[in-house]
Amino acid sequence: MKPIQVGLLGIGTVGSGTFEVLRRNQEEIRRRAGRGIEITMVADLDTARAKSIVGEGVAVVGDAREVIANPDIDIVIELIGGYGIAKALVMAAISAGKHVVTANKALLAVHGTEIFAAASQRGVMVAFEAAVAGGIPIIKALREGLTANSIQWIAGIINGTTNFILSEMRDKGHDFDVVLKEAQRLGYAEADPTFDIEGVDAAHKATLMSAIAFGIPVQFDKAYVEGITKLSATDIRYAEQLGYRIKLLGITKRAPKGIELRVHPSLVPAKRLIANVEGAMNAVVVQGDAVGTTLYYGKGAGSEPTASAVIADLVDVTRLHTADPHHRVPHLAFQPDAMSDLPVLPMSEVVTSYYLRLRVADQAGVLAEVTGLLAGQGISIDAVLQREADEVGGEGATSTDLIILTHDTREGTMSDVLAQLQALPSVLAPIVRIRKEELN
Ligand code: HSE
Repeated sequence: MKPIQVGLLGIGTVGSGTFEVLRRNQEEIRRRAGRGIEITMVADLDTARAKSIVGEGVAVVGDAREVIANPDIDIVIELIGGYGIAKALVMAAISAGKHVVTANKALLAVHGTEIFAAASQRGVMVAFEAAVAGGIPIIKALREGLTANSIQWIAGIINGTTNFILSEMRDKGHDFDVVLKEAQRLGYAEADPTFDIEGVDAAHKATLMSAIAFGIPVQFDKAYVEGITKLSATDIRYAEQLGYRIKLLGITKRAPKGIELRVHPSLVPAKRLIANVEGAMNAVVVQGDAVGTTLYYGKGAGSEPTASAVIADLVDVTRLHTADPHHRVPHLAFQPDAMSDLPVLPMSEVVTSYYLRLRVADQAGVLAEVTGLLAGQGISIDAVLQREADEVGGEGATSTDLIILTHDTREGTMSDVLAQLQALPSVLAPIVRIRKEELN
């Protein structure tokens, strides 16, 4: 059978990795897919650079619409990124009857409902393994490998930039700003790292996992998103003394009244495997009712790791593109007419435990006052640590850090108590609140 022809939109880091891995492993990929897979056309604004990557025999154009208009192309890979032109091109490719493979988490997390509906109507596939956790086949695992399960929760380190920064903060004891600059210098963080450090990139990925795990529409606008910019080395150190590491987690969980969908820094027990995922690596823990806890670990970004996921999608599409659309795996794992209307819960309804740090006056009765307010709202304390605050330590200290770990409580209740605690004259600085996940 003649090779399936693929058009590539955008040949940057991931695009060139895809081209190289397809070329290097073409024989094995052909044996797996049942026919060859060839990138025969590439669109990139920098046509000279694109030509230098792909060499002779591949058509290079500056206008992506030429690729979409080519009747010989069966699959379009979109590696442009963002919500703008990428959305228009993906919709145009679908409407031209092309299957789409994309690594674009932002596009799918925000416009997924519209894109998947258009693809279903046109009978084409939109595959997106590379959009979540790079080379880790987590979409495949959730959509197919774990299909027997009622998924209970997912917690993932799904942003390598922030995990690198947090690892460095812990190792070197430096604060966020210092480590960010170093990460940028080393190329681990982009010049504009906003999406990474503010948790947006992780929230895009968590949104996609949430939809697949629970059969709900993609709803990035309902996700709670908090990044790592306010974390201090002090809290990382105190967490360590209490037996925890701080990680930026993307969490989605089945709760009695709906689905939790949130990204924020979290204390994780140091003995959990995921707490020991360091540097730019990614890891995702999935808890299913039948399988129990499963863990997926690997590179979440980079040229060939992400290409690995893109090509896995190309093989899937190649195998299934002549199949009756009803016999394919649904885009979001559940049949489109069997989606759930479970709501994504507001953050105030999330139930979790907390790490609190209060800078308080070091005088009689303060601890009782603080614990009294917590007890008054039914918040149970798990552990308390008192440490002389860094800048006023030693003899004659007039203030101290009070670190409290709580048991589970409603976020709304905790916010109310924090407002009351903050108003106490003995509380001398803004209270630090970091959520804690036991993941057991
Ligand atoms: N910027 C992401 C990260 C990789 O740092 O993990 C692409 O999503």
